[in-house]
Amino acid sequence: MKVLVLGGAGYIGSHTVYELADSGAEVVIVDNLETGHLEAVHPAAKFYKGDIRDRGFVDSVFEQEKVDAVIHFAANSLVGESMTNPLKYYDNNLCGTKVLLESMVAHGVDKIVFSSTAATYGEPERVPIMETDKTEPTNTYGETKLAMEKMFKWTGKAHNLRFVSLRYFNACGAHKSGIIGEAHSPETHLIPLILQVPNGKRDAIQVFGDDYDTKDGTCIRDYIHVTDLAQAHILAVKYLMEGNESSIFNLGNGVGFTVNEVIEAARKATGLPIKAVVSPKRAGDPARLIASSDKARTVLGWKPEHTDLEEIIASAWKWHSTHPDGFEKK
Ligand code: UFG
Repeated sequence: MKVLVLGGAGYIGSHTVYELADSGAEVVIVDNLETGHLEAVHPAAKFYKGDIRDRGFVDSVFEQEKVDAVIHFAANSLVGESMTNPLKYYDNNLCGTKVLLESMVAHGVDKIVFSSTAATYGEPERVPIMETDKTEPTNTYGETKLAMEKMFKWTGKAHNLRFVSLRYFNACGAHKSGIIGEAHSPETHLIPLILQVPNGKRDAIQVFGDDYDTKDGTCIRDYIHVTDLAQAHILAVKYLMEGNESSIFNLGNGVGFTVNEVIEAARKATGLPIKAVVSPKRAGDPARLIASSDKARTVLGWKPEHTDLEEIIASAWKWHSTHPDGFEKK
């Protein structure tokens, strides 16, 4: 089986390529390296540097590589940036996907697994969130991901293309080897920011609000290990290869942890003190986001292996403590 991974040099993309390669698949990666890292490209994968908005480039990849399926991670994904620069998100996320779909249709490639997000739901009416719950994004990022899902749906109906959309909750952790891990610039995610404290890169972690209606007043999220997310992509490709119909799945552990609990778990995982200071709330943060992943478990046969938060953070720490500057060499 040959799989084309768009955005395969990014955080979740690179971990998925590592799992795909381990499963025996042949992997082709496309990445423009705007936010991805050459060092995260799996050594056994064939790599093309280029942008999915470039039709000539995308066509040339499909002409050279007869792929069975596509996994699509190539998108901008910062919620804050999507609010200050929405058109960047429409351009890369939507225009890029339009070009990709045109080229897939032209080359008869009819299966795609798509990297979606809990941000498609917006403020949930209830938790755990089901795939059938209302989707009302509260930021441009989530809006573009939802629009991408609809592009797959309507293009699929017209051109016999099938898709699986995977709506991730809070991706975290790193590959067991410690060779690849999370490296965003700027970093906005809770766990890498917490680990900057024991790494000596910041004095304290800011806790964004402590008067939410939760058990300790801090926000609750569903943290899911990146390798478990990666495995779900492999199962989704298999699901499409077996001829199954297009579908959408949530991916989370189904358990929520408060920001304070995550900080405490990080203290235990690192064995080091981590100072926390309460700061103002961040605009647009829902109090709690927890996935119902029953559908992925039942239909795809997905079973997350990493359910212990301390162990998940320990895997992230293995990466961050040895790569305090991410992939940058100092
Ligand atoms: N947080 C802090 N301090 C920080 C950073 C984060 O307290 O320095 C809190 C946030 O307020 C939030 C929690 O930690 O309550 C998790 O924040 P992240 O930024 O790590 O993740 P989000 O839940 O905001 O975002 C994640 C994904 C997004 C996706 C979103 C869906 O990273 O891509 O879920 O709502 F859009």
